[in-house]
Order: sequence, then structure tokens, then C-alpha cells
Amino acid sequence: MTSLLDKAVAAPRALTHRELAELLSWPDVDALFAAAYEVKCREIGRVVSFRGLVEFANVCEKDCYYCGIRKGNGKVHRYCMDAEEIVREAEWAFKAGYGSLVLQSGELTGEKNAAFVEDVLRRIHAFGGDDFGVTISLGEQSEKTYRRWREAGAHRYLLRIETSNPGLYAKLHPADHSWERRRDCLRALRRCGYQVGSGVMAGLPGQTVDDLASDIEFFAAEDLDMIGMGPYIPHADTPLGKDASWTPELRKERLELGLRMIAATRLHLHDVNIAAATALQALDPEGREKGLLAGANVIMPNITETRYRADYQLYAGKPCLNEDSTLCRGCLERRIAAIGETILWNRRGDSPHWGRR
Ligand code: 5AD
Ligand code: FES
Repeated sequence: MTSLLDKAVAAPRALTHRELAELLSWPDVDALFAAAYEVKCREIGRVVSFRGLVEFANVCEKDCYYCGIRKGNGKVHRYCMDAEEIVREAEWAFKAGYGSLVLQSGELTGEKNAAFVEDVLRRIHAFGGDDFGVTISLGEQSEKTYRRWREAGAHRYLLRIETSNPGLYAKLHPADHSWERRRDCLRALRRCGYQVGSGVMAGLPGQTVDDLASDIEFFAAEDLDMIGMGPYIPHADTPLGKDASWTPELRKERLELGLRMIAATRLHLHDVNIAAATALQALDPEGREKGLLAGANVIMPNITETRYRADYQLYAGKPCLNEDSTLCRGCLERRIAAIGETILWNRRGDSPHWGRR
């Protein structure tokens, strides 16, 4: 009964909805991960790309029911780095050979924010040029703002759809958060010439295997270049997480579900970049390495100055809160060598799917 795995390995984007659901619940989980890893090695190589992640502000206009930095969480101490600090961290990542940078913050709109980000991007582009990949993850914005940031030097954009099921999306967000607007943002980003990344959370309350299969179909239908997915982890200071039970068994299940999503996505899409999200590591110290062995090829080491990290907790148990970025680098390098993979230093690590477009 391995024919479905063979079919998935042989040809990209060939699976039906039923087959995706079957893969997601594949009984022999090791065989599932091995098949996805085979596709990853063939399409990308036994290599990992790094993106230095800077979480430069936790001020947010959004109020997603699951997120620890939602605007309704009064317990969070809010911060925003200044431009010099952000550029300094970007420069550190560039010199350390990361090849790519991700700038992420809470969602802020308005001219002041757009101009601030534009200025930061121009300064980074001044030393990094187009050899240093710059990804931004700054939420829903107007097409005009997306274009402005693209022209200022950003190459890629991450905006998770969170779930491809609009009905489920409506249950996880206040009424003024719109699934359709979010999807339209992904399309606007494509028009602006970004490499476009999206993704979902796995294990949301009310989410089914069918929903997850539809998520992977959504990634294919929107022709995404990059996928970033992670397990949903309850946060006690949120409406969705405050009464959630969270046992060691649930953590284990949630980790496996996150890994299954990576594997099934690799087996369907083949040539996209897939990130092993930090949320995996929050559930298991080896979560990210397990993500690589289940088909992911990108890791986003947090390079945010440590004094800010505790204030950027989207979920409980965020790892590396006190780790210095220089230590993180050595520690990760060893972990990755231990599973037989090589880090692509000083390379942008673009999605092969993007290259073929
Ligand atoms: N658990 C896991 N991921 C979360 N995110 C937000 N809150 C949580 C949570 N409780 C993810 C969302 C968002 C990304 C920045 O973080 O998917 O898009
Ligand atoms: Fe929406 Fe943080 S408030 S993901």
C-alpha cells in the first residue's frame, strides 16, 4: 500500500483532495516523512537556507483570537525598534552570511508606517543589494504600499491565510477581519512582483483533515512560491487559548500534525520553499530538524535582540528567548550537520518554483 506515496513522489501537483487527506492521515508516518524528504532532496538538494528573522515591533492593529500580541491583549509590553536598530541587525545577518532577512512586525497601516518601512528597506538595500534576500511580513496593506516596499528593495512577502476555510476563518477572527481581503492581498503581492509566501496553522479548534487538504489545494491554486506553516499553540492571554487544555499528549499530536502538513505539502507541490516554523521548536527542541526531515528546506533563526524577544510571543513556550544570535548560529549549524544537511551560506535561496515561473 505504498502506491500513493510513489505517485506523489513521481509527479508534482497530481493529487486529488481525497488523496491529500489520505496522505495527511497516512498510518506509517515515517514512510510519509521519508517520501517527502526524498522529493525535497531531489528538488532542492540536501541543503538548508537561512533567513535571519527580526521581529522589529509588536504593536498590532489586528485582534486575531489566537494571537498573543493581538491588540486586545493588555498584558503585552509594546515596543518598536528604531530604524537604526533594525538596519544594524540586518547588517549583522548579512555579514554573518545568512543570505536572507525576514522583517516581521504586528500589522500597522498608515502613511507613517509605510514611510518608516520604506526607509528601512532602502537602507538595507544600500548595503545588501539584490544578493541579500529581503522578505517582509507586515500584514494586509494596500497594493500601493506593497508596490512601494517592493520598489524600496523587498523581494518576498509572507502573509499567512491562516486557514483556507472562510467559515473557520470567521470563527477565529473578529467580524472586521476578512478572509477575502487577505486572499486578495496575496494576489496583489503577486502583481507587484514579489515571491509570495503563505501558510496556515495546523490543529486549530474546529479544523478537520479535509480543511488541511483544502489548505494544500489553496497553496497550489494560488501558485505560491513559499509556504510557512506551523502547529497552533494556545496562548493563555487570548480568547481562543484561555481555556484550552494543553497536555503533553496534545503537544505531541500537534507537533506530528505540523510535520504531516509539511510532508503532504512537499509531496504535492514539490518545488516550493517550505519553512520549518519556530512553532515546531516550541513543541520539541528538535522540532525544526524534524521539520527538515519531513520536507522543509528553510529555517528562520531569530536574530532579534534578546531584550525584545519575550514581548513577541504569539504563542506559549517560544524558544530561544535568552539565546544570543551568535550562539544560535553555532548551535543550529551543529544540529543541521548532525542530520546530514548543509547550510547555504551567503545565498538568497530563492524558491525553485519562482525561478521556473
Ligand atoms: N500558535 C501558532 N501560530 C500562531 N500565530 C499567531 N498566533 C499563533 C498561535 N497561537 C501565527 C499566525 C501568524 C504568524 C505570524 O504567527 O499564523 O500569521
Ligand atoms: Fe493577527 Fe497577531 S493579531 S496574527
